[in-house]
Amino acid sequence: MNTKIVKIQSREKTFSPEEEKTLRQAGEIIQAGGLVAFPTETVYGLGGDGLNQESSRKIYAAKGRPSDNPLIIHICRLEDIGFLVKEFPENARKAADAFWPGPLTMILPKSGHVPYETTGGLETVAVRYPSHPVAQKLIEYGGGYVAAPSANLSGRPSPTAAKYVIEDMEGRIDMILDGGEDDIGLESTVLDMTVTPPQILRPGFITREMLEEVLGEVDIDVTIMESGNSRAPKAPGMKYRHYAPKGELTIVEGPPEQVVDYVNRAAAADKAAGEKTGIIATSGFLNEYHADVVKCAGDRDEEEVIARRLFAMLREFDDEGVTRIYSESFQSQGLGQAIMNRLLKAAGHSIVRL
Ligand code: TXA
Ligand code: MG
Repeated sequence: MNTKIVKIQSREKTFSPEEEKTLRQAGEIIQAGGLVAFPTETVYGLGGDGLNQESSRKIYAAKGRPSDNPLIIHICRLEDIGFLVKEFPENARKAADAFWPGPLTMILPKSGHVPYETTGGLETVAVRYPSHPVAQKLIEYGGGYVAAPSANLSGRPSPTAAKYVIEDMEGRIDMILDGGEDDIGLESTVLDMTVTPPQILRPGFITREMLEEVLGEVDIDVTIMESGNSRAPKAPGMKYRHYAPKGELTIVEGPPEQVVDYVNRAAAADKAAGEKTGIIATSGFLNEYHADVVKCAGDRDEEEVIARRLFAMLREFDDEGVTRIYSESFQSQGLGQAIMNRLLKAAGHSIVRL
């Protein structure tokens, strides 16, 4: 398949006539059952018509994703949610008022309009109203209900820039809208509204603390941060190995000086054994690490920067042929929790605690 790649750099709600034409064309592709990758404020999505079972099948095929892993349906007007869900309870409305459009996905009981192909056979549907202007226009022109997982091949880090979508999806889908780099860099917070209290199934930019301010008590699915847990996580997607770089990744947690010392010794031993070594460090200790490639994740206090850099760093290690990676660990509240969740999954839960 020939994949059309078109730049749309505008971050405004108004587009140039050419961009407008491209967006209409992209919307037509979706309405005709095709697939278009597009930027959102979190990561790039791989969009198809969420009400068309054939489109959902194509999405799974293009990603190489197991079909029991449900898709998020993206909307571009709050009132459109009524069509997708059986009920829209008061607390879901409150969360929508506070965080939509934005990086929050809510799980609600699905209506008869949503095909099981889109929900992976579940009676619930995941809905998100993204804030990115390109995403909003594409959803509008695409018919209003765009199913979109992250636009990576299954198992790879989610794409935070069009070049990574091109890497994974060129030749597999109809069109890629290149909107440059995404702002947040981690996928949306997934919140299950079908239970009381609501439960976070995937941590993200909208943190538990932010949700609790609006909704009162909010739980978190404990299985997502633990290793060796025998219980399956509730978001089907969270059980799969994810975000994995080709190199083997280990997280090292402990007092900073000890972490530096441990990582340097481990990396030196790996190097002697013929491995190409890489390190993910925060800026404060950057110069104390020694490896083939040392990457700066950002300042420890600036978690938003670390979140934005994380998936790109994992992909860069692949490009650089790094076979053994060590990373500092991050805090387990706030945005740090989302960072640690992705990092733990990328590491297959390999963590050394000093
Ligand atoms: O930021 C995002 O959410 C991005 C952009 C493109 O919007 N999308 C994204 O989609 O990350 P995806 O498919 O990569 O992740 C969706 C997650 C998966 O872990 C999936 O299992 C979970 O949401 N999920 C979807 N529908 C669900 C449902 N009905 N019940 C429980 N979990 C669900
Ligand atoms: Mg994904």
